[in-house]
Amino acid sequence: TIAYLNGDYLPVTEARISPLDRGFLFGDGIYEVIPCHQGKTIGFSAHMDRMGEGLEALEIASGMSAEDWLEVVNQLLQQNATFIPSGYIGIYLHVSRGTDTRRFHAYPKDLSPTLFAFAFELANPPKCDRDEVKGLRVALAQDRRWQRCNIKSTSLLGNVMHYQHSYQSGLDETILFNAGEEVTEASSCNVFAVINGEVVTPSLDHQLLPGITRKITLQALQTANIPHRERPLTVTELKQADEVWLTSASKEISPVTEIQGQPVGNGKAGPVWYEALTAFNTIKF
Ligand code: PDD
Repeated sequence: TIAYLNGDYLPVTEARISPLDRGFLFGDGIYEVIPCHQGKTIGFSAHMDRMGEGLEALEIASGMSAEDWLEVVNQLLQQNATFIPSGYIGIYLHVSRGTDTRRFHAYPKDLSPTLFAFAFELANPPKCDRDEVKGLRVALAQDRRWQRCNIKSTSLLGNVMHYQHSYQSGLDETILFNAGEEVTEASSCNVFAVINGEVVTPSLDHQLLPGITRKITLQALQTANIPHRERPLTVTELKQADEVWLTSASKEISPVTEIQGQPVGNGKAGPVWYEALTAFNTIKF
């Protein structure tokens, strides 16, 4: 596939960066994953806003406007269309602080950032069908990540370790909770639960990423007049919920049917999930 690196398009296997790039040494950077279906981006401007907030928090000036990134996204979609015939493409965007001459924790403010983007095949979106959709099976674990999870940082070791925990047990994700037994998110998704007919998702704060799919899901619930609320969600509530969903760029809204070996509700994708995904699909582009 074709990638973008600092202004050039080239085969991803030929892309090279310095080992002194602070993204490599410190995970000092910001990234985004923008889902695209048949050439159309989902939530592009929201992804740009979130990336801008992350870069601002890290004091990195990317020198790229949203229009510049849109050009990169469109080029990558065009140039990779033959390599990814399904048309379900994730565009990964990455800005790291750049290459310093030495390894020193404090960052110089005048480095040229490394700009990188590539295209990869996204899993098929979930089937909007209660009998045919694949239900996810998840683990539960205490959230051991840092206190700035609202920043979409390339430092992902905490997320990687939490994901690996479920993956090596043959599960699909790990749902995380804080010291107060409140759900934060999953290692690479946001979490929703249906409780007494109301859809609940944890409120945004430093403990979770403000997912773009989460945002579009909330808009879809609003559009479809489905009762919903952003509020703390306890582990006890999660385990007793009628439905649990995970949202992300690649999963859209996916139903969770098993938590730590116990069925969620009746162990099948639920009716509120179906309504929510139907509404999501009508507004997502
Ligand atoms: N993951 N929470 C975390 C920790 C995430 O890494 C992600 C996204 C989400 C969902 O955000 P969004 O709806 O904007 O995709 C929530 C991306 C896809 C990844 O790292 O691959």
